[in-house]
Amino acid sequence: MKLLQNKVIVITGAGRGIGQATAKLFAEHGAKIVIADIDAAPAQETLKLVEAAGSSGIIVAGNIVKREDCDKIIKAGMDLGGGSIDVIANVAGITRDAVIHKMTEAEWDFVVDVNMKGTYNMIQASVPAMRDVAKDEKPAPRTRSIINVSSTSGVKGNAGQINYAAAKAGINGMTRTVAKEWARFNIRCNSIAPGFVETRLTSAPSDDPKLGVPEQQMQMIQMLYSQTGLNREEGMGKPIDIANVALFFASDLSSYVSGQVLVCAGAMIDTY
Ligand SMILES: NC(=O)c1ccc[n+]([C@@H]2O[C@H](COP(=O)([O-])OP(=O)(O)OC[C@H]3O[C@@H](n4cnc5c(N)ncnc54)[C@H](O)[C@@H]3O)[C@@H](O)[C@H]2O)c1
Repeated sequence: MKLLQNKVIVITGAGRGIGQATAKLFAEHGAKIVIADIDAAPAQETLKLVEAAGSSGIIVAGNIVKREDCDKIIKAGMDLGGGSIDVIANVAGITRDAVIHKMTEAEWDFVVDVNMKGTYNMIQASVPAMRDVAKDEKPAPRTRSIINVSSTSGVKGNAGQINYAAAKAGINGMTRTVAKEWARFNIRCNSIAPGFVETRLTSAPSDDPKLGVPEQQMQMIQMLYSQTGLNREEGMGKPIDIANVALFFASDLSSYVSGQVLVCAGAMIDTY
């Protein structure tokens, strides 16, 4: 059964990792996708996956830290959806890890800007496409959903990630606030808090050596996983695990769920 037939869905960070897996899954469920990412090149690959799934999409290259780029992303969604957007998935995020006494102001600002301000920018830019259109729908507004991607770091804290933990906790605060302010417009807002997921963010890639999890910490994560994580064939978290939760929040399966932070960490949350 297709759960998102003809829905218009904006996904930030859709060029890689969790955002890309979410775009592919949503397209398989019949949604038209605005593929938004700061990097246009990997977004092309996502577009191919969306089209291979039998749906359509458009790429909007933009930096969510810039409000005008968020307006551009939202406008593309409104053009696709006849003035309205059904779902926004705020997936774009970044890390710049350092322990507190070594963290620079630039690292703090960058991570808080991309994760927290970027998510806020997207939500505020969505006002005409979500809140304002819902206001006039009778007898009641149709269902809409905003999905924010937080992290277990924002729920439990994480050594070496004070900037990221603060930004992701901030996202959860925004989630609960949007849920309260926009419930009257039938707009749900929920957070997903992933634990470790295998993506560019965690794998020390060549194009951004400041990303990745240090070897020592990786060993600790693997040890904790072997002791307390779900014993399954797929092993530790994959982008599709988070995309599946996003599908729940995007679809009518969660039509009476709002203001929640759902941890998706294979049972590892209480251990670190
Ligand atoms: N991978 C994990 O273990 C993990 C754990 C918890 C939370 N998360 C969160 O999941 C989300 C997706 O991360 P991922 O692991 O798929 O990482 P990723 O690096 O594979 O993908 C993130 C995408 O966001 C894009 N992006 C970064 N900054 C942007 C900006 N300013 N404007 C627009 N796009 C931007 C990147 O270009 C990239 O394509 C992030 O919010 C991240 O914080 C990831």
